[in-house]
Amino acid sequence: MISDMRIEPARKISGELRLPGDKSISHRAAILAALASNRAQIANFSTSEDCAATLRCLGQLGVKIERDRTSVIIEGIGLDGLRAPDAPLDCGNSGSTMRMLAGVLAGQNFTSVLTGDESLRSRPMKRIIEPLELMGARIWSENGRAPLRIEGNRPLKAISYEMPVASAQVKSCILLAGLNAQGRTEVIEPQGATRDHTERMLRSFGVPVESKTIERNGVTMEAISIKYGKQFNAHDGTIPGDISSAAFFIAAAALLPGSKLIINQVGLNPTRTQLLQVLRSLGVDVRIDFISHHDWIAEGFYEPFGYVSITGGAGLAPVKDGESNILRAPLISQLIDELPVLAVLGSQVLGGFSIRDAVELRVKESDRIRAVVENLRAMGVEVEEHDDGLTIPARTQLRGAKLDAHGDHRIAMAFTIAALIAEGTSEITGAGSVRVSFPEFFDLLESVVVG
Ligand code: S3P
Repeated sequence: MISDMRIEPARKISGELRLPGDKSISHRAAILAALASNRAQIANFSTSEDCAATLRCLGQLGVKIERDRTSVIIEGIGLDGLRAPDAPLDCGNSGSTMRMLAGVLAGQNFTSVLTGDESLRSRPMKRIIEPLELMGARIWSENGRAPLRIEGNRPLKAISYEMPVASAQVKSCILLAGLNAQGRTEVIEPQGATRDHTERMLRSFGVPVESKTIERNGVTMEAISIKYGKQFNAHDGTIPGDISSAAFFIAAAALLPGSKLIINQVGLNPTRTQLLQVLRSLGVDVRIDFISHHDWIAEGFYEPFGYVSITGGAGLAPVKDGESNILRAPLISQLIDELPVLAVLGSQVLGGFSIRDAVELRVKESDRIRAVVENLRAMGVEVEEHDDGLTIPARTQLRGAKLDAHGDHRIAMAFTIAALIAEGTSEITGAGSVRVSFPEFFDLLESVVVG
């Protein structure tokens, strides 16, 4: 197993890739297929450790799962079929596993415990404890942190809940709890729409989910709701490639002159593709071709997917001449996993680059603001740290350095890309963390890097 990596600068990126299945969509496919009343086969299932944790926990809850590398067959057990686990459910490093399963477990008539690794046990869970308790579950925690002991209640009470943080995991947790809550459960997103994979997959399995735009105090927000209790059937399907994994290759191709990269069958859900819009606004040549609507409705769990091609190296221009670029809410929630690599890109933008309104980055798998600032500084960038983001005042030639992944897969991958455009060799400690979302990262990178 890799732990540290030495990275040499690259000349360009060239080639064509198809990536493993999207992590967010794979979690949802597994959980919803488990709660369905039939058997379903999921192809191109994520190879991440995070999604393996979801499958393992579902297994402990009595769901029969067969896995052959990226093909997963799940025997749905029905909305009332889960059984009490005989040991704590270990979610590993995966916030999505813990927060979404908490929503499912809140509506069971048994008690269960969710735990995880040190990073996950330090992350905030009050954001799910509060709504789930309002719905009638009882949850014990260590000061709002895991392990969580969940005493389920069946049926739960439906609520209308305005989320204090923009989080697709929290939204999904409440919608999943809503499957076992009497009445109509509603989640309101005041800080901008987050990824909508749960809503799409529920709809593709025939469960009606309503989304509407509402106005409150002059602010427009999304309200998503689901009605109690109808058993449903899953169907077979293929998970599109992970656009958040693609982001690292896309960034490398955008940065290295003469690059040409094509990514096939990658997820193009509009709540996940903001990175492509940001790159376009910086003058990068990004092309997108969607696969026919019919195909993604029939076999893609209602998730748009297609091809992305990038021609690199024109240099990253400011959005408007002389103005620095600032990424802010409400865009931030749709760029959340791409912000580390965007900060690396930002170090190459003429006129500087800022990320603000991103305090959530402090409570990801690591404190990603701190981790990005420390690593950029080690590479020679004069970056300013804010509570909610960072500012890079001017474009800087990166220099090879000793870097630290802080045990965080996205920091490891973002700084591998930084190392490719640096002068001199870099060394990344903790690079093995890529397995959390993308175990094939270094092999695939090697297949497209021209040294
Ligand atoms: C995810 C939502 C985001 C994201 C995470 C996956 C999901 O987390 O950062 O990688 O699958 O719903 P938050 O809900 O905490 O923003």
